[in-house]
Amino acid sequence: MDKPKVISYTLASIDGRITLSPETLLLIEDERWEAVAGNSAEVYARIFSKFKPDALLEGSGSLVIPNASVEPLPAIDPDPSLYQDYLPAEITSTPDRKWMVVVDAKGLVRWMYKEFPGDIWAGFYLLICVSPQTPPTYLAYLRRELIPYIVTGTDRVDLEQILGKLASLGVRNIVSTAGGRLSGALVRQGLLDEIWVEYFPAIIGGTTTPSLFSTPNLTPEEKPALLSLMDCQILPNQHIVASFTVVKE
Ligand SMILES: NC(=O)c1ccc[n+]([C@@H]2O[C@H](COP(=O)([O-])OP(=O)(O)OC[C@H]3O[C@@H](n4cnc5c(N)ncnc54)[C@H](OP(=O)(O)O)[C@@H]3O)[C@@H](O)[C@H]2O)c1
Repeated sequence: MDKPKVISYTLASIDGRITLSPETLLLIEDERWEAVAGNSAEVYARIFSKFKPDALLEGSGSLVIPNASVEPLPAIDPDPSLYQDYLPAEITSTPDRKWMVVVDAKGLVRWMYKEFPGDIWAGFYLLICVSPQTPPTYLAYLRRELIPYIVTGTDRVDLEQILGKLASLGVRNIVSTAGGRLSGALVRQGLLDEIWVEYFPAIIGGTTTPSLFSTPNLTPEEKPALLSLMDCQILPNQHIVASFTVVKE
């Protein structure tokens, strides 16, 4: 199957933590994070200038706190056609359109923006990845809001199929800025081509604080994912950017 190049880029403390606690969403700015990790807008600026991605990939965990109560959606009459991809031509045919792809099979995220504010986000449109188990009320909500979505998988979304569908939409170069669980699933499924980690000089600690690449434990049959160092760069702000290719076995 045709597949875009997928790069993962994550900002992490030296102990591999990607946020301050399980309840801290970096989206809602936290001055303690900014004090040690720097300004996230600068990180995105680095990502855009370095990779010029056609799409960014995120998981619902970056947008909704675990077990948070979500705003209920109005009931609807069942309609199987909701489970077909929704790709309105007025968005897919927009010249130079780029995608902000978000995995949200449970239908948790309520969207404030469909296009994002700020010059850096110009041309990015939301594209939500859902599954046949996503509540129909959520799919109806996305259609009412003219938010495109693609349906894959059975219970969860099928990450490989998502990449195939993105390739057919013309996406060649994706940067995943996802949290640990989605990044972990991508690496375990062998879907990442490159891994970039920007380490900042601090230790956050914690026992359940989200970290880089969290996955189920290795089974006796599974092996660690092997990487090969591409580069290691020290930034003026004392961050260390280490980049690796993923060795395909
Ligand atoms: N420092 C950084 O660079 C950085 C970047 C991004 C996020 N963060 C922080 O990281 C935290 C979120 O990380 P997280 O690990 O909780 O969330 P996450 O990476 O967004 O992972 C959860 C999402 O991934 C999906 N997922 C996980 N495994 C999957 C699989 N095998 N197949 C299909 N879908 C799968 C989940 O789907 P289901 O709902 O179906 O399980 C859910 O949508 C937040 O605090 C955020 O602020 C930090």
